[in-house]
Amino acid sequence: MKFFIDTGNLDEIRELCETGMVDGVTTNPSLVASSGKDFKSLIKEICTLTPGHVSAEVLATDSETMLKEAKVLSDIADNVCIKLPLTMEGLKACKVLSADGIATNVTLCFSALQALLAAKAGATYVSPFIGRLDDVGQNGCELISDIASIYDNYPEFDTRILAASIRGPQHVLDVALAGADVSTLPPKILRQMYQHPLTDKGLTGFMKDWEKTGQSLL
Ligand code: E4P
Repeated sequence: MKFFIDTGNLDEIRELCETGMVDGVTTNPSLVASSGKDFKSLIKEICTLTPGHVSAEVLATDSETMLKEAKVLSDIADNVCIKLPLTMEGLKACKVLSADGIATNVTLCFSALQALLAAKAGATYVSPFIGRLDDVGQNGCELISDIASIYDNYPEFDTRILAASIRGPQHVLDVALAGADVSTLPPKILRQMYQHPLTDKGLTGFMKDWEKTGQSLL
């Protein structure tokens, strides 16, 4: 499974890329706004920090303008992935970009039928929003397994399932079991995934016992 990080915070991206666990970055207009940075400069800088896909979202709502914005964004760097909303206009633009070999991430997916449309439009990724579905009393992880089953039925689909709106480590586990190809994680959640109290306790015990030997390896 690939891990993307879901943030516009350059310090976080820099630090987490150094762990070797980060395969790409996703942003959205809200994350760009909270970074306080110029959108194009931010994407440019993120693209230097990871060789993986960096999702940058169009702002227009009609396909013609989306395609113009996509050109501006994809000119920033080779690893920019154009993020488009799961609307009829977004999927029209997706079809054109896919035919041109440009990576796309169809976002704001809340149903398996929408994911089917995204695959037919040739999306590189579809982003089901797990946490936002849970927030309204639906089961986000069930959506991931439905999409995975549908895509398995149609080997001609190349679209990868990018589980988004992840709210905690348990979500990562659940979407991995449900068949997501990628999870995009807020930085805090990637850090939490390393943690287990028994790891800390075990390490403290080993260090104490090692000290008693009086030895040093280096
Ligand atoms: C990622 O592509 C999405 O924009 C993001 O995961 C949304 O997460 P949120 O529901 O926590 O805003």
